[in-house]
Amino acid sequence: MADEVRAGLEARPLPFLPSKYFYDERGGALFDEITRLPEYYLTRTEEALLPAVAREAVARVRPRNLVELGSGVGGKVRVLLDAMEEAGTLESCTLLDISESAIANSLSQLRSERPRLKASGVVGDFLTDLRAVGPGESRLIAFLGSTIGNIHPQDVPAFFRSAAAILAPGDAVLVGLDLVKDRARLEAAYNDARGVTAEFNRNILQVMNARLGADFDPAAFDHVAFYDPDHAWIEMRLRARRALDVRVPGAATALSLPAGGEIRTEISCKYTRAALEAALSGTGLMLNEWRTDPESLFALALLRRLGRS
Ligand code: SAH
Ligand code: AVI
Repeated sequence: MADEVRAGLEARPLPFLPSKYFYDERGGALFDEITRLPEYYLTRTEEALLPAVAREAVARVRPRNLVELGSGVGGKVRVLLDAMEEAGTLESCTLLDISESAIANSLSQLRSERPRLKASGVVGDFLTDLRAVGPGESRLIAFLGSTIGNIHPQDVPAFFRSAAAILAPGDAVLVGLDLVKDRARLEAAYNDARGVTAEFNRNILQVMNARLGADFDPAAFDHVAFYDPDHAWIEMRLRARRALDVRVPGAATALSLPAGGEIRTEISCKYTRAALEAALSGTGLMLNEWRTDPESLFALALLRRLGRS
């Protein structure tokens, strides 16, 4: 963490913080609140698609073992587990998330709800730690919520290759993708009227204070979120209201910002089917099914690991 934060805060012209550090307990709770905001159409649109898509994916793949990446505090995993149970295939479930509290809470809930399920958790980074899930077969990896959008596009092919590496031929990845759409709708989802997204954004500074002994004053920053059509992503930033000198002893660095100076805290890429297919090229995964809601706001894509006829 210290190395990543130092590299991010020393980056110029635009310092950044890795978005995975939003998610301490408070960050997870704020994200959960975001998922219920009227402006944030992503979660409810995906949840409306998921039951039918899950049944269809399970019928095709017949997975015995579910792996959910970035499982967070939500309950989407239950929809997939129900579909596998109905099909009579369900054996095990592994959750992977960077947030230890999210893994601990979800696992204890799963174990009390389904005592016969083999449930395990991995606290790690889905970009670097997929091998910690271990070898397996008859697997379905779920990567929902458009969390793939928070991966820089140049890192997405390597992510798909590392996912393919823990799958057997014929196994699958179910990925949720927020889609390119009109700017006003996108920007509203990241600039909600109640200011929950702004609080979520500022929370990353509290995480820096708590974990690295930094002295950020979150109240000295404005929330900024805008759509960049050239990159097809929403970018979130924190903008200093006044000139600031911040020390981050746990990362052996410091940051001076002028009034109006910004830190990038997140990118949230918006996909098209063609962009997904381009990112899959040469990764060992292939697009098998593509489902969207009637307004084409959000997509669930089933990817198959190549190698079996
Ligand atoms: N899957 C849930 C939660 C999405 S929030 C849903 O669809 O609503 C994103 C989740 O991904 C958080 O729980 C966060 O802790 C986790 N996360 C973000 N970056 C991560 C990373 N690099 N590695 C592992 N988990 C990460
Ligand atoms: C988790 N992830 C998909 C969310 C997103 O929309 O990129 C995080 C988020 N950021 C601001 N609001 C929600």
